[in-house]
Amino acid sequence: MYFAILMKKNKSIGTVGMGLMGTSITACLLAWGHEVVAVSTDLYLEPVLRSNIFSFLDQLAGEGKLSDSPATLMNHLIITDDLSKLQGIGLVVECITEDIAEKQQLFTQLERLLARDAIIASNTSAIPISQLQFGMKYPGRLLGLHWAEPAHISKFMEVICGDHSELQYADELMSLATSWGKEPALVRKDIRGFISNRMMYAMIREGLSLVEQGYATVEDIDRACRNDLGQWMTFAGPFRFMDLTGLSAYLKVMEDLFPELSQAEQVPEFMKKLVSQGHNGLSTGAGFYTYTAETAANWERLFMKFSLEIRRLSDVYPQDVGDRLNHD
Ligand SMILES: NC(=O)c1ccc[n+]([C@@H]2O[C@H](COP(=O)([O-])OP(=O)(O)OC[C@H]3O[C@@H](n4cnc5c(N)ncnc54)[C@H](O)[C@@H]3O)[C@@H](O)[C@H]2O)c1
Repeated sequence: MYFAILMKKNKSIGTVGMGLMGTSITACLLAWGHEVVAVSTDLYLEPVLRSNIFSFLDQLAGEGKLSDSPATLMNHLIITDDLSKLQGIGLVVECITEDIAEKQQLFTQLERLLARDAIIASNTSAIPISQLQFGMKYPGRLLGLHWAEPAHISKFMEVICGDHSELQYADELMSLATSWGKEPALVRKDIRGFISNRMMYAMIREGLSLVEQGYATVEDIDRACRNDLGQWMTFAGPFRFMDLTGLSAYLKVMEDLFPELSQAEQVPEFMKKLVSQGHNGLSTGAGFYTYTAETAANWERLFMKFSLEIRRLSDVYPQDVGDRLNHD
């Protein structure tokens, strides 16, 4: 089906917003053979952007995932601050700042440029797609396309339908995502946070509550999650895991535990205080933990290394691995 986009429109894909995500998304698209027109408002950063994108491609080359050299693939990239260079492109991936008004303004500009059936895909983390569709001339062509960092490595992708999204475009995006080595999930009805963020924030809310009420420290919660959920989560999602270990025990625990889990609607004060004090994590040397410049760089380097290793492992154990009777 994705050939529909590639043949009916053309092989080029546009990306708008060259921050953290835009660069790794651009690298992913280049890696899978697309020509990419990347729109950045900060054109003076072009050498840095090119160097970052090249290094992402180099990582993929090291994994044996590229059919061309990083240098050759970089020739398929145009970086521009001129939105009109997107004219004639069949798919534009928006990855600008998480701000509803800015995104809506961009979509209005894009609709003036793009053909009526060109797809606009938003990488919003949590803005409902239906809200982004508001005011669009052809809202059926706007869908969520939710990537995870590092976008050139992670197999995660959510394709999200807003109230007005046309299913044929969702099908095209699902096929394209698969062609980029992702295991995409389709969110059929619009909901804030989609799937993975709703699951993750439910867990974070419980963790904050346990800390706030003095049941456990941040370190102890991190350690428990790493070694329990982290042990199986790349092999099986929560439903497969319940199948693996027997549903009946879960039912009993659900009945007892659900009423006691945090249902807090407010963010705890200690979380607000950390952010208001400028503690943003690695980038500021302090978050829930503290970092020197050297340890921050080391955490970042090792996280990238780990991402490549866990991607390798998840390639060996795809989602349906147990149904493949010839898999050893
Ligand atoms: N960081 C993550 O892990 C993550 C994960 C999933 C989704 N997202 C979503 O992806 C989007 C981008 O996130 P990010 O982390 O890359 O943010 P970022 O702040 O690193 O990058 C945003 C970039 O967009 C640029 N920009 C803003 N308005 C623009 C415009 N009109 N035209 C062109 N460029 C513009 C900014 O200059 C900046 O470089 C957000 O919607 C975010 O919620 C982020």
